[in-house]
Amino acid sequence: MRQNFVAGNWKMNLTLPEAQALTIELMELLKADLTAARPQVVVCPSFPLLMAVGQLLGDSGNPALGAQNFHQKESGAYTGEVSAKQLQSVGCEYVILGHSERRQQFHEDDTLLAEKLKTALTAGLKPIFCVGETLETREADETFDYIGQQLAAGLFHLSKEEFGGLVIAYEPIWAIGTGRTASSEQAQEVHAFIRAQVAAAYDAATAADTTILYGGSCNAQNARELFSQPDVDGGLIGGASLKSRDFVEIVKSF
Ligand code: PGA
Repeated sequence: MRQNFVAGNWKMNLTLPEAQALTIELMELLKADLTAARPQVVVCPSFPLLMAVGQLLGDSGNPALGAQNFHQKESGAYTGEVSAKQLQSVGCEYVILGHSERRQQFHEDDTLLAEKLKTALTAGLKPIFCVGETLETREADETFDYIGQQLAAGLFHLSKEEFGGLVIAYEPIWAIGTGRTASSEQAQEVHAFIRAQVAAAYDAATAADTTILYGGSCNAQNARELFSQPDVDGGLIGGASLKSRDFVEIVKSF
């Protein structure tokens, strides 16, 4: 279902008391702004914080709880790893997949991501699947080819039914954590391209129904301009999701 959507990726930040304090602030601020039109909000803390944050979020489904990663196998002898089913059992509804930090620093390639995607869907988790080009790729004018390839290899092996539960995030790597945001025109151009690729792989109705987020130095100042673009349905927020007021300002930017 296509919807306005804001997800906070807390990355490897916050201790338990800090995460609890941030969640309580968020809930207070969101409660004060309880408009019927509120977008779907998701927060994605690190593993040890999930249960405590989930308890504070409650079970309304909005805000919802998401994880940042999991292991591709269902269960077994994988010391130190966390399964999709375990995440689902502690209240996670969403999981981030294909984030550039995992692709680059943890060597997650298309084959692994395809396996993870199937595992997530089988466990009943909704993936937030990230794609995005490096600065080099953009400067070589190869952004569309690159993103098209990431979508084809990473996502389009799914059946139309499987694809239906999915959120896509366009995150240009040069914009992540750099303070350098894509312009709203740059974001719109890639988002429209992604939607067209989905239409070609499945059909126009599936494309029209797909939620596509922008991520990369999105903040309280630039969110409104980005979210006003016709194919930008919201944001995947890193740094600015760690400050309750900034994050809620972003949530209110539709
Ligand atoms: P940023 O991170 O908002 O800090 O740039 C976005 C992300 O990595 O999802």
